[in-house]
Amino acid sequence: MALRSHDITSIIKSAIDAFDVGAETRSVGTVLEVGDGIAQIYGLGDAVASEMLEFPGGIFGLALNLEEETVGAVILGDAKGVKEGDTVKTTGRVVEVPVGQALLGRVVDPLGRPLDDKGPIAATKTRAVERIAPGVIVRKSVDTPVQTGIKAIDALIPIGRGQRELIIGDRQTGKTALAVDTIINQKGKGLVCIYVAIGQKLSTVAKTVAVLESHGALAHTIVVVAGAEDPAPLQYLAPYAGVAMGEEVMEEGVQLDGTLIKTPCASTTTSPSMPGPTARWRSCCVARPAARPTPETSSTSTAASSSAPRASTRRTAAVP
Ligand SMILES: Nc1ncnc2c1ncn2[C@@H]1O[C@H](COP(=O)(O)OP(=O)(O)OP(=O)(O)O)[C@@H](O)[C@H]1O
Ligand SMILES: [Mg+2]
Repeated sequence: MALRSHDITSIIKSAIDAFDVGAETRSVGTVLEVGDGIAQIYGLGDAVASEMLEFPGGIFGLALNLEEETVGAVILGDAKGVKEGDTVKTTGRVVEVPVGQALLGRVVDPLGRPLDDKGPIAATKTRAVERIAPGVIVRKSVDTPVQTGIKAIDALIPIGRGQRELIIGDRQTGKTALAVDTIINQKGKGLVCIYVAIGQKLSTVAKTVAVLESHGALAHTIVVVAGAEDPAPLQYLAPYAGVAMGEEVMEEGVQLDGTLIKTPCASTTTSPSMPGPTARWRSCCVARPAARPTPETSSTSTAASSSAPRASTRRTAAVP
């Protein structure tokens, strides 16, 4: 087929119209040394604290130690993939995770990267992993039960939405089974569950995910995994990533079984005269991990049954 000259011209014109290269400015630095999962980087003069830095090979780092000449960054990935002389770029973003509807039913790492085989996360929104938590004054007291489905617990020691709860016990006594049973029992009850598995074997996590899937409970669940072989910084990040995803459900809502699941956020009603901001790790439901992160955390978030503002809608069960 012969192309006429005006056809060629119009093709070129439309290609030119569609051509869009948005200019972006990024600082580029060089890795001076790497050791113990920390990289010293020279030349990132405008990096801000907690900014995500991009190493070659899709490895991210977290700028923590800002010095006059260098930046100390925690490598959130395989530190062996970073070597002296590598170039590092700033991203202009503090640590954030994708949030919203697209996360439901997915298994992700603490940076929100998919670990299942369901393709990329189609999230349109991200949320900073660290933010100011609402103060205790603006939080509503617990008034709605969470049915675990285990009659003895629901009758004798009922758990409320917005309550923290620690499941503690010896090895192999059914702590995980209790948390997973509770998630399964929330099917069709308008409760989004977030299961954060830290420091576990991936095979164990895969089994848990398979159980959730086989009971149709994955649709209302987000699974965040920082496995035993993941670097410690990623494991530290996991609880906060899970909470950020839960806060999105709480404040903006998600669709579950055709219903908008949303609980008005306490922080949106905070008046300037309220007590000063409280850092997440001091007042939030998830305790800051101590020397070693808690191996496993599961939390359930938000309720649809009540339209009243609920101050804290997370329940956390740490399972050693
Ligand atoms: N109510 C129950 N009745 C009988 N067996 C149970 C019950 N709950 C859990 N189990 C079984 O006990 C074993 C240990 O359960 P689970 O993995 O939940 O314990 P765990 O406390 O989380 O263990 P770990 O300390 O290793 O994390 C599993 O094989 C599970 O199937
Ligand atoms: Mg367990």
